[in-house]
Amino acid sequence: MRKAGRSEVTDAAAAVRQALEDAESVAVLTGAGISAESGVPTFRGQGGLWRNFRPEELATPEAFERDPRLVWEWYDWRRGRIHKTKPNAGHHALAELERRKTRDGLKSEAFALITQNVDGLHDRAGSQRILKLHGDIWLVRCVNCGAEERNEQVPLGELPPRCRCGSLIRPGVVWFGEPLPAAEWEQAFAAAAHSGIFMVVGTSGVVYPAAGLVEVARHAGAGIVVTNPEATPLDSHATWVLRGASGEILPRLL
Ligand code: OAD
Ligand code: ZN
Repeated sequence: MRKAGRSEVTDAAAAVRQALEDAESVAVLTGAGISAESGVPTFRGQGGLWRNFRPEELATPEAFERDPRLVWEWYDWRRGRIHKTKPNAGHHALAELERRKTRDGLKSEAFALITQNVDGLHDRAGSQRILKLHGDIWLVRCVNCGAEERNEQVPLGELPPRCRCGSLIRPGVVWFGEPLPAAEWEQAFAAAAHSGIFMVVGTSGVVYPAAGLVEVARHAGAGIVVTNPEATPLDSHATWVLRGASGEILPRLL
């Protein structure tokens, strides 16, 4: 094992830049790491834990049933953290990449941004076609009547919040053990299968089915780019590994 020297990274970045330009279609899968430089805590790795809870313990329907207040305290804390942040150079670079790939207006299929993030920073950076596999932390939904709305109040006040119908309101996100939104998943799968280049940014690659899109893309013959400061299980699928922070690396690919 050794670290890539600076020139190796630069060479790989140049190759990826060319490949992105040549590709008929590009799909990008992002995870919490792309928002790290904005100040949004990741789930795993350094600084990833909230009061010593792992996400697998709190982001579940069972946890919400057992202790809705505790789960909401976590989401309320995260909403507060996210509220103070803004998109970084990595989010902006992906929005720019989409503009370039879809420039003639006829090629909306030429780009898809698939994200596991619920923080809304891709929206705020101006990305258009965002497939949110894990929902959106700014959406809330009644567990009983299903009423869903956007709610950007920080902090939320009395926890857990309740619907007009009297039932509990939950975050509009996907929890472990729950299915992904079908339309987003189908589009993400198709985008991965039809991409010439599939880029993976800032994800630990351990949460499925999202992480499996890399294999879908690879089997379909796409070039795979992994951008992450740390090694991940997805590196073994990579055509190019770009080791570093996405806020520094992604702008260099344009
Ligand atoms: P993780 O917290 O598991 O992983 C974050 C990744 O970002 C790690 O691989 C870090 O090395 C990397 N990283 C850190 N800083 C970075 C930087 N500046 N630039 C690029 N990468 C950086 O987050 P996810 O993979 O997104 O799901 O986690 C997947 C899912 O598990 C989440 O959507 C969430 C979580 O539990 C649910 O809550 C259902
Ligand atoms: Zn209700």
